[in-house]
Amino acid sequence: MDITQLILDDHHEQRRLFAMIDQLSPSDARVLGVLWRRLAAFLEVHAEGEERFFYPQLLRLGDGAGGKNSAADETLDAIKDHNEIRDAVAAAARHQVGTDGWFAAVAAANKANGDHMAEEEREGLTDFRRHVGLQLRHDLAVDFAAFEASNITGVQAVDKDPKTYVAEHAGGV
Ligand SMILES: [Fe+2]
Ligand SMILES: [Fe+2]
Repeated sequence: MDITQLILDDHHEQRRLFAMIDQLSPSDARVLGVLWRRLAAFLEVHAEGEERFFYPQLLRLGDGAGGKNSAADETLDAIKDHNEIRDAVAAAARHQVGTDGWFAAVAAANKANGDHMAEEEREGLTDFRRHVGLQLRHDLAVDFAAFEASNITGVQAVDKDPKTYVAEHAGGV
C-alpha cells in the first residue's frame, strides 16, 4: 500500500459522490440525504486521517513542491482548507435536504474540496512521493486505512489552528 495512493483514491471517490448528487432531482430528497450523509462523513474522516498520519510526516520529511517552498507552507494551507471544508459541511446541515439553500451549500463544499484536492495533489502528495520511502508510505497507509475503516460513520469535526498544528508537529511525531 501507499498512503499517497489511498489519498488519491479517496479524492476520486469524493468527486464521484459529488457527481452522483449533481445528477439527482431535488425531489429525490431521501437519496440526496443518504448520499450526502455518506459524503459528509467521508470528507471529515479523510481530513482527520490526513492530519493524523500524512501531514506530520510531510512536515518531517517534505521539502516543498508544486509552487510551495516548504512542507510547512503546504501544511498551513492544507489545514486552513480542511477547516473550510469542515465549515462548509456544517453549513449544509443547516438547510433542509433538496432545497435551493441546501444545493448551494453542497456546491460550496464541492468548491472548497475541489480547490483543496487540486492543491494537495500538486503540492503535498507530490512532495511526499519525492521524499518519503516506500516502506514508510506503506506503514502509513495501513494506519490511514485502519483509521478510516474504524470511523466509517464519521468523526467529530474539529477545526484546527494551522500555525498551532504546524508548531506542534514540527520535527515530526
Ligand atoms: Fe485529501
Ligand atoms: Fe486534505
